[in-house]
Amino acid sequence: MKKLLIATCTVASLWFAGNAFAAEEAAAAPEVDMETLNLLQESACLNCHNLTPREKVETDANGLPFGPPYLLVAHRYHDTPEAFDNLLNTIRQGSNPYSKHWKEESAGIAMPPMITVSDDNLKKLLTWILNLDEAKAAAAEAALAPKAEDAKTD
Ligand code: HEC
Repeated sequence: MKKLLIATCTVASLWFAGNAFAAEEAAAAPEVDMETLNLLQESACLNCHNLTPREKVETDANGLPFGPPYLLVAHRYHDTPEAFDNLLNTIRQGSNPYSKHWKEESAGIAMPPMITVSDDNLKKLLTWILNLDEAKAAAAEAALAPKAEDAKTD
């Protein structure tokens, strides 16, 4: 009887510990807006851009990604809401190859105009990008990771 009680207590405490852990994890990882993340991927943005500076998707001979990581884009422009329209124009019309904003973080090509993406979707994507912080970018990257694995085994 005593043994059974101990076993029950152990199971109960494991259950509590597990739940507490899950709750902690949920609090640590913000929910990912999968709709926008999928849109970003379908719009080819992630062919040239990474979410965080650590992991590189596409590189040139210098080892730098084509475009700046979105977390750095957010850091640079998050507190200047007036930059929004200029950035939207850059995505729509492409970047000016003579005025590189991202010399250190990208390979040095210009960004081509993203003409296949609707204006509404561009606004949605840009808003999402500019609101990234470390936790959101890491959570979104983690949500993308299994997809990358799937693609490899196809
Ligand atoms: C072919 C590669 C490529 C693709 C595809 C691409 N980008 Fe870029 N992007 C770049 C490069 C290169 C830069 C850096 C330009 C510079 O240095 O001025 C950039 C810069 C940016 C910037 C920062 C602009 C600035 O003035 O600081 C934003 C925002 C951006 N891209 C969003 C997007 C979005 C959204 C998409 C998808 C709809 C996208 N990009 C697709 C290559 C790309």
